[in-house]
Amino acid sequence: GAPVEVDISALKSGEMTTVEWRGKPVWILKRTPEMLASLAKTEDKVADPQSNKPYTMDMPEYCDKQSRSRKEHPEILVTVGICSHLGCSPSSKFQAGAQASLPDDWQGGFLCPCHGSTFDLAGRVFKNKPAPQNLDVPRHMFLSDTKILIG
Ligand code: FES
Repeated sequence: GAPVEVDISALKSGEMTTVEWRGKPVWILKRTPEMLASLAKTEDKVADPQSNKPYTMDMPEYCDKQSRSRKEHPEILVTVGICSHLGCSPSSKFQAGAQASLPDDWQGGFLCPCHGSTFDLAGRVFKNKPAPQNLDVPRHMFLSDTKILIG
């Protein structure tokens, strides 16, 4: 599939937008400083914090292991919104305590409605969940501060 160019100039801090790439939903989340800070707290709660497992789509090596984003724009997460379990699309649940089924110390992230896999705000799957892998991070680059090329 062809790379997709996305203009994120209208994306506010804390907001997410979805684009389509190779027939898949790709999420672009602009994380707040608090959201980014939450990744240190989820580090020992996620199953594969450094994304070391063999992945269908390897996380690009230029991405930071914890934020899973490019170092020049750590707040921007680009990830494929498809659960690694059986392919449902998780929903975004950014708010702490927004769902009764989420743990009390929920820092925000994503919840798969099919079998309850939860992911942190870097798309890393929490321990003891059916999803075997973190959400995929596709190749992407910044054409400018507000333009991303995915693929
Ligand atoms: Fe997401 Fe099963 S498809 S938990």
